Amino acid sequence: MCGIVGYIGPKNVVPILIGGLKRLEYRGYDSAGVAVLDRGELRTRRAAGKIAMLEAALGADPVVGHIGIGHTRWATHGPPTDRNAHPHLSTDGTIAVVHNGIIENYGTLKTQLAAKGHRFSSDTDTEVLACLIQECYEGSLEDAVVAALRLVEGTYGIAVVSSREPQKIVGARQGSPLLVGVSDGQYFLASDASAILAHTRDVVYLSEGEIAVLTSGGYRLMDIDAAPVRRSVETIAWDLEAIERGGYDHFMLKEIFEQPTTVANTLRGRLRLEEGTSKLGGLNLSHEQLMEIDQVIITACGTSWHSGLIGELMIEDMARIPVEVEYASEFRYRNPIVTDRTLCIVISQSGETADTLAAMREAKRRGARTLGLVNVVGSTIAREDDGGIYLHAGPEIGVASTKAFSSQVVALTLLALKLGRKRNLSVARGREIAQALDALPAQIQTILDAAPAIEAIAAAYQDATNFLYLGRGYNFPAALEGALKLKEISYIHAEGYPAAEMKHGPIALIDEKMPVVFLAPHDAVFDKIVSNIQEVRARGGRTIVITSRDEPVLAGLMDHEIRIPETVDLLSPVLASIPLQLLAYYIAVKRGANVDQPRNLAKSVTVE
Ligand code: AGP
Ligand code: GLU
Repeated sequence: MCGIVGYIGPKNVVPILIGGLKRLEYRGYDSAGVAVLDRGELRTRRAAGKIAMLEAALGADPVVGHIGIGHTRWATHGPPTDRNAHPHLSTDGTIAVVHNGIIENYGTLKTQLAAKGHRFSSDTDTEVLACLIQECYEGSLEDAVVAALRLVEGTYGIAVVSSREPQKIVGARQGSPLLVGVSDGQYFLASDASAILAHTRDVVYLSEGEIAVLTSGGYRLMDIDAAPVRRSVETIAWDLEAIERGGYDHFMLKEIFEQPTTVANTLRGRLRLEEGTSKLGGLNLSHEQLMEIDQVIITACGTSWHSGLIGELMIEDMARIPVEVEYASEFRYRNPIVTDRTLCIVISQSGETADTLAAMREAKRRGARTLGLVNVVGSTIAREDDGGIYLHAGPEIGVASTKAFSSQVVALTLLALKLGRKRNLSVARGREIAQALDALPAQIQTILDAAPAIEAIAAAYQDATNFLYLGRGYNFPAALEGALKLKEISYIHAEGYPAAEMKHGPIALIDEKMPVVFLAPHDAVFDKIVSNIQEVRARGGRTIVITSRDEPVLAGLMDHEIRIPETVDLLSPVLASIPLQLLAYYIAVKRGANVDQPRNLAKSVTVE
């Protein structure tokens, strides 16, 4: 689930492991540890809590060496304590394992291993794997790993070292990403490229079921049958600056402010203003295949699911194809109607979300064509989909997704435009939407320029205990997203609702202590939402209203007004979500919350 880093080379391994783990902190974790081969001896240091705790443990009892592995843990089996932190050692102490994911059959394996005399000192599933590898060891670490993994059910990204072969690191992946980094006589293993970007941009991604063997002389890949695998080295397009805060207090704030650029990057080279359409290179769908689509299923989780809801409205409106949006975690376990004329759009910032990946595989298995809207290049979803639209938003480090959301909505607009123009969407309407997309980056900038006004509103509500977000039409999903942002990082309970649905229940919550955020740009449902604002005011609720022009009818109805520029209705959620991101951010900061690493959350949820 969380982070792995490994190193073999001429340098002192500890600073490299610690530096790499720090780069992985953004993914969320609860404990950390390292195992180092110190003059042939396997030494581990582990600590619950932040990496600073691990550094303190290393300070008190240093280790040195040129080969080692490190881990940030996001507990699934057993509480986040020192003894549950990785690496875990085999019973005889010769093998150390770090592991992301879950060994599902660990209970059975543990019983069998206990019967053979193995003793366990943690509650984790990972320790069982370490013992299993020991049990399978017959003189070759990689062979032992392969043999052990054959007995394992579940998901893993692992790194293994052993004092029996102190010149080697073995890695393996199944359901949890892993890559090898290559640089002049140094080799790295990492679950995420950011961990090693300070040292190299040349990486080799492992595919599902593959094993990597790193020595000081090189690396090789093989499959689970131990057959060699050839894979070319890829160069990561972004550099260290992209994963650093660049003067901002938090990654989240940096990413919010990057949106004029990231949206422009999602659009780059894809708009056809004259023809009122888009050009999408990676779809891998012929004109005939595009015309054959008679149903679209969008599947995703969290923020990506919210952008999917906007995509549904756009595709139905522009292309007149029926669309269903489903939580990936629900889709994967029901019996959905999918045919070979179904297009399954899979939306994921990370491209690694376990539920989303499983939903995509299920849709594929049932004959759908899959199209990934993914940000992380080379991620599993991006590698397994039939076609895709990369978001090109650059690395998103803040756990709360911001710039990925705007890029997702923009990518969905490009897709809907293409599907629509191939069908009934007029060139005039196509042009209008294309021009609105083109204008978006500059419009986002004007909202960001007014950030201090939003910060002042945040100050007035930092002590609120509940928040309601209401929107209609295209802005209902944006209301859900606004509420999710606030609850994730400030821990204030917040709900998003369709504005008119409020009177069927949530209206009971309204009193003078309840702030209600209305998303009310001047769109097709503006007049309708004004009535809902009145209903809240009539019950003493405090209103924060996002509008797009002087509306006399709103006079006296707003405690606070936030202005956004006007655009076509379908793009208004992109603009409306920017002040909501800022509002959540400033409230969380004022409450002293850890914005970039909110409690209990992980950046990408690679377990079910
Ligand atoms: C967003 O702020 C979240 N932290 C979360 O809901 C996220 O959007 C979800 O886990 C999906 O992630 P993905 O886009 O990487 O698949
Ligand atoms: N299942 C393992 C544990 O609970 C690994 C957790 C992780 O992915 O960090 O220790």
